Amino acid sequence: MGFGRGKVILLGEHAVVHGCPAIAVGIERGVTADAAVAERDLLRLSPWNLELEPDPKGDEPLQRAFAAVLALYPARPSLEVKTQVDLPAGAGLGCSAAIGVAVLDAIDQTLGIERLRADLATAALAWEKVFHGNPSGIDNTMSAVGGVALYRRGDALRTLRSNKPLHLVVGHSGESSSTKEMVASVSRQLQSDPARVNKAFEGIEVLVRNAKLAIEAGDHVALGQLLDLNHTILSSLMLCTTKLDDMCQAARRAGALGAKMTGAGGGGCMFALAPEHDEALRLRDVLGEGSFVAEVSA
Ligand code: PMV
Repeated sequence: MGFGRGKVILLGEHAVVHGCPAIAVGIERGVTADAAVAERDLLRLSPWNLELEPDPKGDEPLQRAFAAVLALYPARPSLEVKTQVDLPAGAGLGCSAAIGVAVLDAIDQTLGIERLRADLATAALAWEKVFHGNPSGIDNTMSAVGGVALYRRGDALRTLRSNKPLHLVVGHSGESSSTKEMVASVSRQLQSDPARVNKAFEGIEVLVRNAKLAIEAGDHVALGQLLDLNHTILSSLMLCTTKLDDMCQAARRAGALGAKMTGAGGGGCMFALAPEHDEALRLRDVLGEGSFVAEVSA
């Protein structure tokens, strides 16, 4: 069975596209996939009941992404790949990258190819590039490797260690968004007002560096404050929605140590940092439908 996990970016999304570091965690929810030799190449996606043939020029991005992945295996039989997706799409949890990693992992297993998870992440970039032109690589890397890590484009992933688990609660705004459009919007702002946007990136980089220290020291009160500040900077880049802001506020009022949007923004998910497991369960009720607890050990 192939597997690609979902991810939550704790701090640094968008800035990471432009070379700043970011911190992300891999979560247990993700995508599983099975591959089998078949009469023709086919990709099936549940729970959406989708069946797609690969086509490098197809209208549907999934067709192009499947074709890009199959092209990585020059001598192979025809393959049918069945995936089970347990992540919301267009929600900032790295759903597309998780499908790509799971598909590659399943094909590798069927063809008897052994690959390190880090190399699986690199291969999955071919899939991710179809969905948005300029991926930082954080989604496919965290999906394949997991854990808690500091990621910077072009550098080796740095795993962070701590003796205190992170009690995260992920909430879904119910609004879907396009990573491609949100990344393009930040790039447009960078072009038209480089001083303002570079200042925002510099601010995010300082928060990420401090968050690394806070995670390693197990100082979740400090980490929570850094999350709130990162949320404010992302708002200034017009990436938050009223719903996401309201959910973050509700979580803070209900006792979260910090809360922020995660991923591309413009909708999708936010998360809150809870002090303990029981409070995480309570915050999940506050955040309502579609929310879930993710406990992550660093
Ligand atoms: O919304 P998601 O899960 O695709 O996360 C995107 C993260 C960005 O930093 C906005 C883009 C990227 O490639 O790093």
